[in-house]
Amino acid sequence: MAFEVCKLSKSLGAEVKGLDLREALNPSIRTKINDAFVENVVLVFRNQNLTAQQFLAAAKQLGQPATQKLSQYKVPGCPMVSYVSNQEKTDAGNPKLLGKAWHTDHSFQPEPPKATLLYGVKLPKRGGDTWFANMKLAYDTLPNKLKDRIKGLEAIHAYRESREVMSKNERNAEILTDAEERKLNTVHPVIRTHDISGSKSIYLNPLRIKRFIGMSSDESSKLLERLILHSTKDNLVYVHRWQQGDVIIWDNRQAMHRVEHNYDLSEERLMHRIILKGIKPE
Ligand code: OGA
Ligand code: MN
Repeated sequence: MAFEVCKLSKSLGAEVKGLDLREALNPSIRTKINDAFVENVVLVFRNQNLTAQQFLAAAKQLGQPATQKLSQYKVPGCPMVSYVSNQEKTDAGNPKLLGKAWHTDHSFQPEPPKATLLYGVKLPKRGGDTWFANMKLAYDTLPNKLKDRIKGLEAIHAYRESREVMSKNERNAEILTDAEERKLNTVHPVIRTHDISGSKSIYLNPLRIKRFIGMSSDESSKLLERLILHSTKDNLVYVHRWQQGDVIIWDNRQAMHRVEHNYDLSEERLMHRIILKGIKPE
């Protein structure tokens, strides 16, 4: 199989052309794909046609699929594949639209997934774009003063059902000491070093971060806002506009992402989703 890797933007993202993910990739192709993945942070494979089982088999060529926490969203008969659907409803009967705010996946876990794959099963006619921010570039372009400020800093990531950015009230709900937070929640460094490339990225999750160790919640919120603002500037972002048959994989170690629900909500948007096992951020 001959294939090529074409950059999709200046900041991040590349399309892999000429591969059919239903076929076995030989070791040399796998290595090239993995290298392109780490370099470009997001890879796009277009014109794929995959059952849930075939999607899982493809993912296994790129890493080790991991089970996902929320069992209600698993694809029947194929529990390692879950789905993301705009047809889910909140208790009040409103559409449950997940992932609107910037985040990285499952950072409340001690070993968050290294990557997430999505396959567009049903897409709105247009819109429903997924945005990605390159957190390696965000680190590289951070003013030195801020780099110094976050050097050695750690963040408390708390699990919640809600996918909304943590409110001030929530952050202040209970004032626990750093030691208590470490026992109850997961603590990750704000600067993490990529286990494959050795490069540094800013590791943030505005949905989950309660505060930084050694900082009040107000001070933490201010710093978090500054870092997010810096990291999500246009020149660090790639916006993926979905086409039927797209598979994308992103590197949770060096990207944040969000979805823009910019389409007619009566249209169905359904993704199949697989996460790949990761390691403790360091
Ligand atoms: C996710 C996610 C975004 C999307 O699956 O983790 O954030 O575009 N999805 O559906
Ligand atoms: Mn996500």
